[in-house]
Amino acid sequence: MASARVRGADLVEIRLDHLAVFHPRRDPQLLLKNRPLPALVTYRLLVILLDLYQEKGQRTLSLFNCALPRKESAPGQPTISDLLNVYNIKQIGPDTKVFRIIGKPVGNSKSPILHNAAFRSVGFNAVYVPLLVDDLAIFLTAYLSLDFTGFRGAVNTIIRRSTDGKLVGYNTDYVGAISAIEDGIRGKDASISPLVGKTFIVIGAGGAGKALAYGARENGAKVVIANRSYERARELANLIGGCALTLAELEIFHPEDGMILANTTSTGMQPNIAETPLIKQALGSYAVVFDAVDTPKVTWLLREAEEAGATVVSGMEMFLRLAIGQFELFTGLAAPENLMHDIVATTETRTKI
Ligand SMILES: NC(=O)c1ccc[n+]([C@@H]2O[C@H](COP(=O)([O-])OP(=O)(O)OC[C@H]3O[C@@H](n4cnc5c(N)ncnc54)[C@H](OP(=O)(O)O)[C@@H]3O)[C@@H](O)[C@H]2O)c1
Repeated sequence: MASARVRGADLVEIRLDHLAVFHPRRDPQLLLKNRPLPALVTYRLLVILLDLYQEKGQRTLSLFNCALPRKESAPGQPTISDLLNVYNIKQIGPDTKVFRIIGKPVGNSKSPILHNAAFRSVGFNAVYVPLLVDDLAIFLTAYLSLDFTGFRGAVNTIIRRSTDGKLVGYNTDYVGAISAIEDGIRGKDASISPLVGKTFIVIGAGGAGKALAYGARENGAKVVIANRSYERARELANLIGGCALTLAELEIFHPEDGMILANTTSTGMQPNIAETPLIKQALGSYAVVFDAVDTPKVTWLLREAEEAGATVVSGMEMFLRLAIGQFELFTGLAAPENLMHDIVATTETRTKI
């Protein structure tokens, strides 16, 4: 760093191997000492962490990672084009709020494209960036003391409340998925949920599975959980008052016709697009089949379900609706729904990193 300063460097790049050892606010300041050079700090995957502070009237900007697959100058860096067009870098200043999606992997998320465009369209001064997190516990310990305004994760949305600084968790997965399934079954005007009294089978018992199971139960369905790890299915079923099945049992489970099926596992997600969580022969019992997988939009499961005569609901619908819910939580403003719909419909899949 000293050598860079002597040579009058305008930009300093710092590469890190492990995010957990690096404190994004303190360490750049230590490294940069009294001369606030713009610092470009990369991590091994695509995350941009914009750590902005004022020092001697200058702004120091730290960029960590980024999930951009094209012509990055080092692994994990964003392209100039994405900095300008996706992350609106020219508009970022000390007052810019920073939101982030965390996950592993996170590089194929469409959320930054969607939320940054939505922020820009309503003039909300914020940026939304992906952040790869290996270990949630370390992440929460290391980062939650920082002035993060909110981030999206399995939970799936946490906002720091402006009135008292407390973190508040929300789950927009639940509303997004259930409303997409309901609208797939009926017209939007119906006053009673079409899930009432229906047998609703959730494959998976992770974050999305919990959200779907809870949402289905809240809307009057009889919930059944099927999961690769039967023990997790049983735990979730006990929690919400439903039944549990193994995946093998699910193949012959047919208590009634016209059931609803929701896949909440990653089975069938790109690149494993020829995989499906349930054999085609079993799909004839379902009136509606939903797949939380949103890439591809029409999964193997949805294609076979359609061939078996079911109404199908794509994970893309869930993604759009949960993002609309998040936007409103982030900004307190009405979401630009038409714009967000168009972006979701046209955005190409990001390359997984
Ligand atoms: N469309 C959207 O907006 C949206 C939103 C949220 C999530 N999702 C999608 O939902 C999926 C699950 O996300 P999550 O956050 O719930 O993940 P998670 O918490 O890690 O849970 C993963 C679930 O999938 C099961 N699973 C994983 N690999 C499997 C395999 N090869 N065969 C059978 N079961 C398998 C796991 O079973 P075990 O318990 O046996 O490990 C677990 O039940 C992902 O594909 C994600 O992209 C979509």
